[in-house]
Amino acid sequence: AAPAAPDFKSCGPPEIPTDVPTTVCCPPQYSSPIDFELPRPRRFLRVRPAAQFVDDAYIAKYKKALGIMRSLPPEDPRSFTQQANIHCAYCNGAYTQVGFPDLKLQVHNSWLFFPFHRWYLYFYERILGSLIDDPDFSIPYWNWDNPKGGMVIPSIFTDTNSPLYDPLRNVDHQPPTLIDLDYSKKDDDDPNGTPPPNELISNNLTIVYKSVVSGGKFPRLFLGSPYSAGSAPDPGPGSLENVPHTPVHLWSGDKRQPHRENLGIFYAAGRDPLFYAHHGNVDRMWNIWKTIPGGKRKDFTKPDWLEASFLFYDENKNLVRVKVKDSVDSKKLGYVYQDVDIPWLKNKP
Ligand code: C2O
Repeated sequence: AAPAAPDFKSCGPPEIPTDVPTTVCCPPQYSSPIDFELPRPRRFLRVRPAAQFVDDAYIAKYKKALGIMRSLPPEDPRSFTQQANIHCAYCNGAYTQVGFPDLKLQVHNSWLFFPFHRWYLYFYERILGSLIDDPDFSIPYWNWDNPKGGMVIPSIFTDTNSPLYDPLRNVDHQPPTLIDLDYSKKDDDDPNGTPPPNELISNNLTIVYKSVVSGGKFPRLFLGSPYSAGSAPDPGPGSLENVPHTPVHLWSGDKRQPHRENLGIFYAAGRDPLFYAHHGNVDRMWNIWKTIPGGKRKDFTKPDWLEASFLFYDENKNLVRVKVKDSVDSKKLGYVYQDVDIPWLKNKP
C-alpha cells in the first residue's frame, strides 16, 4: 500500500542534533482534513519566473507577500514560521508512519521527494498569492543550471533589508561567487576544491546532464527508490536529489553555524526563503526530465506511489489531504516554468 498522510495528532518532537535549541515544529491541529481537488483550469497558467530575470514590480510583489507572511502570528498555519516548520516535521522524524508506530515518516531519500516538495511549494505559493490578493502570483526559481546569471545566489535574496533575505548563509558564497553544483563540505579546506570560473561552469553543466539525462534513464534512478506503507525510511534518493540538490543546500548554508543552518540541515532549511527558489528549480527539473526522449523517463505508475498522500494547510487555513497522483502534471496545478536556455540538455559532455 501507499504511505498514508501523517496523523498530525501524533506529531512529536523532531529528531535534531543535541546541540540545537529545543525545536517544536508540529503544525496547528484545528481542523480535520478535506480531500484536495484540482483547481478549475484557468485560461492562463501561472509562470514561475527565473529569479535572475524578474523585474522590480515582481520583486515588490514577492517582498510584500512574504513580508505579510512573516508578520502573521506564528500559530497561523499560513505564517512563515509554520511554512518553515513543515520541512522540519516531515523531514526530521516528527511523524511516524500511520499504522507503523515504530517507523518514522521521511519524505527524503525516496520516491516521495519530488511530489512532496511540489506540494509544499504549491501551498506556499497559493498562500503568498492570497495574502496579496493575486491568484496569479508565482514563486521564482533559482536557475542554478543556467550560466546566464543563474549560477549565483539570485540578487533578490541578498538585499539585507528585504523579507527575502536570511542572514544564515555562507558569507563566502555571496554573489558574484559561482555555485559549485557538486560542492561538499570538504571542498572548503581543499585548495583545489573550487576550479576557476570557466571550468566550474562547464563542470556544473556536466553535473546536471549526468543527474537528469545519463544518470536518470529510469524512474527509479531519477525519482528515487520505492517507499511504501511499512517501508523503512530512506530507501535511497534519486540522482537529482543526491546531486545537485543536496550540494546546493550545503553550499548555501552558513558554515559559521554548527549544522550549516539554515539551508544546510533539514530541520532549518525551510527558514530561508531561498529554499523555495532552490526547490523551484528542483521541481522544474522533474518537468524537464519527462520531456527527454529515449529511455524510460516517465513517472511511476505504481499505486504505492500515485496514492501516497500528505497533509498541508491551504491559503484558507483548511487542512488538505493531497495525493501524489494529483501532482504529476504541474499544469493541472496551474503552473509552468519560464522557458530559458537549457544549455546542458543537448550537450552530452
Ligand atoms: Cu526537503 Cu531540499 O530538501
